[in-house]
Amino acid sequence: MSSAHQPEASASKPVLYAIGCGSPLTRDLHRLIAAGQRDGWDVCAILTPDGRKFADEPALARQTGHPVRWAYKDPADPDVLPTPDALVVAPATVNTVNKWAAGITDTLALGLLVESQGRGVPIVAMPFTNAAMATHPAFQEGLRRLRDWNVTVLFGEDVLPLHAPGTGERYIHLFPWDRAIDVLRTRLGGELAN
Ligand SMILES: Cc1cc2nc3c(=O)[nH]c(=O)nc-3n(C[C@H](O)[C@H](O)[C@H](O)COP(=O)(O)O)c2cc1C
Repeated sequence: MSSAHQPEASASKPVLYAIGCGSPLTRDLHRLIAAGQRDGWDVCAILTPDGRKFADEPALARQTGHPVRWAYKDPADPDVLPTPDALVVAPATVNTVNKWAAGITDTLALGLLVESQGRGVPIVAMPFTNAAMATHPAFQEGLRRLRDWNVTVLFGEDVLPLHAPGTGERYIHLFPWDRAIDVLRTRLGGELAN
């Protein structure tokens, strides 16, 4: 797969999709959005259906200036978001990583990830889960496959030490959202318009 995706030529800002899954960390998706905006991105928020349980959708819509999308549009409806130049999925749940690695597209978030990957759009994944769930072979294999497909996966002791089951809330404030934006700056370098 090509890693040489060029942001679409536009006088406006490059577009970043910030995708939040079903984890308490999605309450802080605004931190990823703010980091992206500081770096010159026009950020759109996407949620999984379970991500909606944790997110403040009206606040995310106000912050981004775009509708928050979480379901596939009806066939006759227009696209309401600009095409992404990059995607960050953070937090990426075990469920979404496993389905993504298998090519399953039964949520809008997964459809966007699978399609964007095929288009060669840069993608950063920041899984968040506990130490027990992280040991599942399907998850470990999924992370390997995503890395093989040129997805930047930020996960492990050097990103955020794994926590015991039931203690995730204690570590949410330590989650290094900015690292995803740093990766994109490095991956895209001078290609960005900002
Ligand atoms: C309170 C609560 C917290 C959860 N936190 C996480 C989490 O941090 N990481 C994770 O992988 N799954 C977590 N889950 C499980 C996911 O929400 C569940 O697997 C869901 O199906 C994920 O759907 P999604 O991948 O489409 O967002 C949590 C579930 C609940 C109810």
